[in-house]
Amino acid sequence: MARRPAILAPMEDVSDAVFRRICRELGAELCVTEFVNAEGLLRGSRIARRKIRLAPDDRPTAIQVYGADPDRLVQAALVAEAAGPACIDVNCGCWVPAICGRGAGAGWLRDPVAMVAMARRLVDSLSLPVTVKTRIGWGPESAMPIVDLARRLEDAGVSALTIHCRTAEAGHSGPADWSWAARAQEVVSLPVIVNGDIRSAADAARALAETGCAGVMIGRRAIDHPWIFRETRALLDRGVRLDPPTLEERLALCRRQLLANVAERGQPRGVFVTRRHLNGYLAGLRGAAAIRRRLVTCDSLDGCLEILADTERQLAA
Ligand SMILES: Cc1cc2nc3c(=O)[nH]c(=O)nc-3n(C[C@H](O)[C@H](O)[C@H](O)COP(=O)(O)O)c2cc1C
Repeated sequence: MARRPAILAPMEDVSDAVFRRICRELGAELCVTEFVNAEGLLRGSRIARRKIRLAPDDRPTAIQVYGADPDRLVQAALVAEAAGPACIDVNCGCWVPAICGRGAGAGWLRDPVAMVAMARRLVDSLSLPVTVKTRIGWGPESAMPIVDLARRLEDAGVSALTIHCRTAEAGHSGPADWSWAARAQEVVSLPVIVNGDIRSAADAARALAETGCAGVMIGRRAIDHPWIFRETRALLDRGVRLDPPTLEERLALCRRQLLANVAERGQPRGVFVTRRHLNGYLAGLRGAAAIRRRLVTCDSLDGCLEILADTERQLAA
């Protein structure tokens, strides 16, 4: 693995097997699955089973689990471990009320002592490394526990810590404050991964330089622009600023992802999950808004392929 990896963030309905393959090919050294509900995993739900399925070439991938009950989390993590991930990541950062309100996700930040005890239980019960993804704290900065928490999680045997540099209360609003990741990395020797608002290769380089962190994790920008991994590697490893992908390359990725999503999820679900990427993939194309409108109102694979072929013909004309 690269000395300072660029990691694909766990993202529900985004960081699935198809998108992980794409991002890995473009330079993501590690990918994290969508979060998996511990209860769903223990019930053997179809969704949970899909989320933890790892193809032989889908490595290294971390499986992320979430839940509020340490016993159930341990049992679920044991099921996930059998799928052969690189490590088990525990979600302690999800701010969605339906999840953190029940004590899972960022709900753990309301009781950091319980969070550390839960992490220790996982470390003691699993054979694979356990990692934690969390935020800088639950609420206002005066109550920020992340630096102390990093120390305690290291002491509990956690192998790496990803910090989304916002509070849980902030959700996705306001700027991410990377300085908290710097402060945490300063006091621990476990790898700290800085996350939040890394939107370009230059941002990734700056985040690493400013924080001294062991790696960067990229979420939303990758949805629009998975080429960020290629651009980041080129900048970090060779000091090279790559040109953006060509329009042909953008359209080719669109088609490839559509076909792969339909192969994986069938129609129309495979068509639907591709839509989230269209804004970014079509960027720079003449008439992008109109092409996008046609694509998002078309539920069939054949129809979408025809729209893409039409666009390619116009590009070549
Ligand atoms: C659509 C979407 C789904 C997400 N799902 C998860 C998830 O399943 N687990 C998790 O830990 N974080 C999840 N996140 C948060 C991201 O992993 C990341 O921490 C956050 O978006 C900040 O990074 P960014 O600014 O690079 O996007 C999600 C974010 C988005 C936008």
